[in-house]
Amino acid sequence: MVVFQKIDEIKSFVTGLKKMGRTLGFVPTMGYLHEGHLALVREAQRGCQAVIVSIFVNPTQFGPQDDFDRYPRDAERDLRMLEEEGVDAVFMPPVLEMYPQGYVTYVTLKGLTDSLCGRSRPGHFDGVATVVTKLFNIVRPDKAFFGQKDGQQVLVIRKMVDDLNMEPEIVTVPTVRQPDGLAMSSRNSYLKAEERKAAPVLYGGLTAAQAAFDGGERNPQRLCKIALDMLAREALARVDYVEIRSLPNLEPVAIITRPVLLAAAVYFSKTRLIDNIVLDPGNSL
Ligand code: PAJ
Repeated sequence: MVVFQKIDEIKSFVTGLKKMGRTLGFVPTMGYLHEGHLALVREAQRGCQAVIVSIFVNPTQFGPQDDFDRYPRDAERDLRMLEEEGVDAVFMPPVLEMYPQGYVTYVTLKGLTDSLCGRSRPGHFDGVATVVTKLFNIVRPDKAFFGQKDGQQVLVIRKMVDDLNMEPEIVTVPTVRQPDGLAMSSRNSYLKAEERKAAPVLYGGLTAAQAAFDGGERNPQRLCKIALDMLAREALARVDYVEIRSLPNLEPVAIITRPVLLAAAVYFSKTRLIDNIVLDPGNSL
């Protein structure tokens, strides 16, 4: 496994792979890797002949109140894990390599980023879209792999790739969970013991709504209320949002007749966790 910090160096490595005719899979991450990230890596290895992972805590997707400085980092452990997975190359640039002094160009999506996490974190998805654009231009992958866990992020990337005629095929990988249902996340490491015990209520709320949906409930407000009621019973959980939105445009839904996204964000102290499921009327009753 080769590790690159410089854009020019990884670019020549990619040119070499392309000359050999190898299909290239790419997994962008912010590091502090866990089984969720590794599921993306393994999916990439199944579908491609070479796999590149990036590790970059991207400052432009963090707001002033966000956790950029205290975001967990452990490069050594990450590299060990990726080596064990048999990844071909890792790109881990310093911040100034990606955003040198005088950097001014950003990618912005209208509408799609006004709801859910985009509403709670203004500017967040512009930062994501910008860094993913840069990474795609540097790595030039055939396929790029993203987790369902960050549902709105996948929709934003897919829309951006479509609107800007970008090359990579976007592959979505299902959410990897702990045995108690909590979605794996680098931010889970912030949770104190009692918060970690309480945190599965997030997925619990979503699955309670899913159960009512499977029983025939098609009213988004009533379904969200079921999740909200469950979350309200957990004193450590402070709800940011629980919402049902259309796919793929994330518009409000009056009554569910097609697959929709049920998404939630919940604070445990300062730690904000997100999760989502798709409610698909085709699969029920
Ligand atoms: P990060 O939070 O490190 O996540 C990297 C990728 O792993 C994302 O596609 C995310 O959806 C996926 N992922 C995280 N937890 C997962 C889980 N439990 N199951 C399945 N997939 C999971 O998302 C980002 O970084 C950044 O926004 C990034 C795209 C790298 C741009 O900076």
